Formats: sequence, C-alpha cells, structure tokens
Amino acid sequence: MTDETAAPRVLVLNGPNLGRLGKREPAIYGTATFADLTELCQRTGRELGLDVDVRQSDFEGELIGWIHEACDNALPVVLNPAAFTHYSIAVMDAVKMRTAPLVEVHISNISGREDFRHQSVITGSATGIIAGFGFQSYVLALHAIRALLARGDDPPEPPGARPMAKTAIVSDARGLGPQ
Ligand code: DQA
Repeated sequence: MTDETAAPRVLVLNGPNLGRLGKREPAIYGTATFADLTELCQRTGRELGLDVDVRQSDFEGELIGWIHEACDNALPVVLNPAAFTHYSIAVMDAVKMRTAPLVEVHISNISGREDFRHQSVITGSATGIIAGFGFQSYVLALHAIRALLARGDDPPEPPGARPMAKTAIVSDARGLGPQ
C-alpha cells in the first residue's frame, strides 16, 4: 500500500565520471564534489517536498537497472547520462519505457562544446532537457518535476500528441559557470 501523505520519490541518476566531480576538469565542471551535488539535491528536495534519492554509476547496465526501477514504480527521474548521452541507444531505450516525467540534465552546456557533444540520443525520449547551469541544472530539473507532479499529467504521451513536451532550457555557450 502506498502512503498518500509521503513525499513523492524522485531518482537523481548520474552516469560515468560524475563521481569524480571536484577533481574532474574543474574549469568545466567546477571544484564542488559529487557529495556537494548530492547535498544540494537533497536540500532542494526537502524544500520542494520531494524524497530525493541521488545515485551515480560508471556502469551502463547499473544505470539502466535504475531506470527500469523508475519505470516499474512510476518514479520521476532527473538523469545526467554523462557520456552515455551521446551514444547509448541502450540508455535511450530504457528512457523510452518511462512511466513518469524524466528530465535530462547537464552541468555544462553541451551545445556550446565539442561537436560530438551536441547530439543527445536521450532528449527525444525525455520530458525535457536542462543544460549549462552548473549544479543549478539539477535544482531547475527538480522544480520542473515538482511542477509536473502538481499538474498531475506526466507526459509520456504518444509522439506529437502535445506541443508541451520536450521543453528545453539551455543556457548560453558560457553558461552560469561550474556551480
Ligand atoms: C555532462 C556532459 C557530457 O558531455 C559529459 O560526457 C559528462 C558530463 C555534463 O553534465 O555536462 O560526463 O553530462
């Protein structure tokens, strides 16, 4: 039985190398760590009345398993697929099975970086994408999930059914900086 009064659960899923935040290319991703990102997401969740579960894996299969878990339990997801964004048809296929809103996020503005990062195989199957706002991309995504839950109409609707889907918030090429 589900507890109707419990805060809705949201999975915040992170792909490869994001566990190295703080050490990893600080000019692009900043000096704050994955623990800092986790804390920010949990604090934002508390403010919004969401029960936020933050996870990271360097393994495609583990990430896909978590997406399946979200699909099976109608859990909303904030997903930073990291490098999988650009080539993983397997992650895309998992996202296609979603049963609740899924917001793709990126710390950096992938459209302002190398050509191979301009393509996301995920976005077309996500509710929308937020990129280029540093860690604030996650905060914005959690706000978007909160608003979608309040409206009560998740959009895993058939393609082309509604113009509302695929909302994109992408900052300018320089973005807001790493954090
Ligand atoms: C990233 C952008 C990807 O291109 C890159 O492979 C990452 C991080 C981001 O959050 O900006 O690992 O998803």
